[in-house]
Amino acid sequence: MIICKTRKEISAAVANIRKQGRSLGFIPTMGALHQGHISLVKKSIEENDCTAVSIFVNPTQFNNQNDLKTYPRTIDADIALLESVGADIAFIPTVDVMYPEGLENVTESYDFGPIGQVMEGIARPGHFNGVGIVVHRLFELVPADRAYFGMKDFQQIAIIKEMVRQRDIHIEIIPCPIVREEDGMALSSRNIRLSEEQRKQAVQISQTLFKAQELAKTASVAEVQTFVETTVNSVPLLSVEYFSIVNAHTMQPVTSWDETDWVVGCITVNVGDVRLIDNITLKK
Ligand code: PAJ
Repeated sequence: MIICKTRKEISAAVANIRKQGRSLGFIPTMGALHQGHISLVKKSIEENDCTAVSIFVNPTQFNNQNDLKTYPRTIDADIALLESVGADIAFIPTVDVMYPEGLENVTESYDFGPIGQVMEGIARPGHFNGVGIVVHRLFELVPADRAYFGMKDFQQIAIIKEMVRQRDIHIEIIPCPIVREEDGMALSSRNIRLSEEQRKQAVQISQTLFKAQELAKTASVAEVQTFVETTVNSVPLLSVEYFSIVNAHTMQPVTSWDETDWVVGCITVNVGDVRLIDNITLKK
């Protein structure tokens, strides 16, 4: 596996692949890699001649400085894991490489329209702008054929698709299913920040979503909404930030199941100072 740290190194590695006429898949990450990330890497390896993975904890998408400071960093283990599954390139830039103008001089600004004005778009002001900026810059440095994103960050995929449309980028965005622990908990880099007791109770997030999926077959949208909020909030260490039942194509809230063919329930829960997100299809 080639490890690239500078713009020059990554551009040369990509040019070399292109010169050989080989296809390229790309997985942007913030590291602290787990089997959720690895599922994307494996899919890319299946579908492309070469696979590049970036590891960069992107400051411009953190609206909470404590979250940025405490974000897990496990770079040596990440590199070993990527090597073991057969990734070809790891791109590990510093903040200066991604933002040579200095963070205080970053001026790009996105308007994603209605998809950016709900859920994480409200809860984390500036977050999606930072995601758009960094993924755009990464896509310029790694002009892949395909890029792989997890449906765990359901709204993020819609944001990336919209960014790619607005900037006329010719990279196919491939959504990939959520990878879960055996007990149902969605894998997340932030899970390692949970205490044993917090982790034990956090399983109720996914367990409640699974029950909601069953309930959605017979109950109304409002009933499912109340069920999820009250059930998760009744767990002592869990506090629901929002639970939104939305049209999966537009991210806008629905009031009835008949409004669209695909409805998803998206939840954000605070467990101490750890913020966890998950989602589930309620109708498709
Ligand atoms: P990060 O949280 O590291 O996630 C990188 C990719 O892995 C994202 O596409 C995310 O949806 C996917 N992923 C995380 N957990 C997953 C799981 N349990 N199952 C399936 N996929 C999972 O998302 C980001 O980084 C950043 O916002 C980024 C796009 C890299 C821009 O900085």
